[in-house]
Amino acid sequence: MTTPNHGARHVAIIMDGNGRWAKKRLLPRVAGHKAGVEAVRNIVRAAGDMGIEAMTLYAFSSENWKRPEDEVNDLMGLMKRFILSDLDEFAANDVKLKVIGNWRALAPDVVALIENALERTSGNKRTTLAVALNYGAQDELVRAAQAAAATGEISEAAIAAHLDTADMPPLDLLIRTSGEVRLSNFLLWQSAYAELYFTDILWPDFKPADLQAALDHFARRDRRYGGL
Ligand code: FPP
Repeated sequence: MTTPNHGARHVAIIMDGNGRWAKKRLLPRVAGHKAGVEAVRNIVRAAGDMGIEAMTLYAFSSENWKRPEDEVNDLMGLMKRFILSDLDEFAANDVKLKVIGNWRALAPDVVALIENALERTSGNKRTTLAVALNYGAQDELVRAAQAAAATGEISEAAIAAHLDTADMPPLDLLIRTSGEVRLSNFLLWQSAYAELYFTDILWPDFKPADLQAALDHFARRDRRYGGL
């Protein structure tokens, strides 16, 4: 029997194109980010329905601090509102929230909000939603290597065990929207054997059917993990 997820357990998305979506409509960039949050809601719900166990979304990179202060504030505000307003929805859909990256360095009110949301959703089982906040893969790898070194063992297994995603299934599929073809410091270790899928669709326009198309593409790949 084929399942909608075609065996993909963990899907990650670089949600790109909010600014261009807004520009096309002569709207301020924040309108694109707001529409982006709506797309997040729909995709997380659909991922659960498709039986995807884990989804990791790139919400704010450690490089995004270079954006104008107003836009950084808008993004943080949206993130806070998303966490607050969607807690009930997470409960209803059995979504466990996880945050990866250097999120403890964020403003104290954001940290408190995240801690509360992590605790309130910790018993949920159907889907894990990992939000990458103040995340950079190179920073994650340095932190993991330092933690591994502290145990006296630097090996692939030891580093993997200290990644922010250590308790998640291996990454199967990485999607980037808006036509850009690069990884932008996202899940570099985890992407070693992931299928990569690039689409021109701007993130606010990305629909559950587009996630299904990416999964169908994944199903047609022959993953050899370096073998024949
Ligand atoms: C890229 O679009 C998008 C971001 C930098 C932020 C992504 C954030 C959201 C979708 C909203 C909040 C997320 C959650 C999980 C609630 P861009 O601004 O780089 O677009 P552009 O390249 O067209 O300018």
